[in-house]
Amino acid sequence: DRVVVMKQGEIVDSGPAAQVMTAPTHEYTRKLIAAAPRLSAHERRTASTQARIEFGGEPIVRVSELTKVFPLPKGEGERRSLTAVDAVSLEVRRGETLAVVGESGSGKSTLARLVLRLEEPTSGSISFAGEDITHLKGEKLRQLRRRFQMVYQSPFDSLNPRMTIEQLITEPLLSFGEGDRSSRSKRAVELSEQVALPDGMLGRFPDELSGGQRQRVAIARALALDPEFLVLDEAVSALDVSVQAQILALLDELQRERELSYLFITHDLGVVAETADRVAVLKHGKLVECGDAAQIFTAPQEEYTRMLIEAVPAFSA
Ligand SMILES: Nc1ncnc2c1ncn2[C@@H]1O[C@H](COP(=O)(O)OP(=O)(O)O)[C@@H](O)[C@H]1O
Ligand SMILES: [Mg+2]
Repeated sequence: DRVVVMKQGEIVDSGPAAQVMTAPTHEYTRKLIAAAPRLSAHERRTASTQARIEFGGEPIVRVSELTKVFPLPKGEGERRSLTAVDAVSLEVRRGETLAVVGESGSGKSTLARLVLRLEEPTSGSISFAGEDITHLKGEKLRQLRRRFQMVYQSPFDSLNPRMTIEQLITEPLLSFGEGDRSSRSKRAVELSEQVALPDGMLGRFPDELSGGQRQRVAIARALALDPEFLVLDEAVSALDVSVQAQILALLDELQRERELSYLFITHDLGVVAETADRVAVLKHGKLVECGDAAQIFTAPQEEYTRMLIEAVPAFSA
């Protein structure tokens, strides 16, 4: 009913919610409101990024009829298995961001893990840059891991707390035997600059960094081997809106500079509007709708998609 806005320990704005949201008195409140993801952002996004995407060519990733069935432990009722991903077919074009949306439990993370070959599919196929990788094993699979990387939701869980930021960023280089100590150190500095980490962070440990800084470290680490394709699984979902907006801007900039393709997983349609070129909608493991972001937001074909869109908080400011 009422909102109190705090900045650096002090109240800078307060009042009835409608008043603070529509007529904020403090610049900081205006910034926070402006940083919140908006559905209308898809218009700006599509206008500015269509030129970058490679249409018609071989997509970087193509999955066909991909299915993952998990056996369920006995005693969980009648069902013996759960189909987490159910005959999903889609592709990611070079240079684009394909968002995968759906409620919690709809199969988004399982799909991501299948695409990156972190999970074995029950059936169906995955190809990467024109090569069938469904059954790739051993050294060939390992070499592929240079070319695609994953960024997770919670950088606190995915970053080893006992390693310094420099060690974390350069670990992929070390594990692929790239460079020597001094060249890796140099690379850590370059990467930390590219993700706009403040100076002096490289010797620190993850728990000495803010959430946004930790996510920058996770992104730097994912970029260390110069991949072509990134899977971002709820990578900004745990961040507050102003930090979220900064990370989204960083991802956008990196995409342009490096011609990266993203599979961007999120439950937040507002974030999708800010980042996606195309959108795939998952429900109970099935792909119910897939199309250009503009089409999904202005003319969703499925009731389920409409429901997800309506769940996004709207701002009048
Ligand atoms: N290793 C697993 N074993 C059994 N069930 C799993 C496993 N991983 C995921 N699931 C189930 O698969 C479904 C999809 O999960 P997930 O892909 O994590 O969904 P999302 O990322 O969309 O929240 C859920 O019902 C989940 O409980
Ligand atoms: Mg998930």
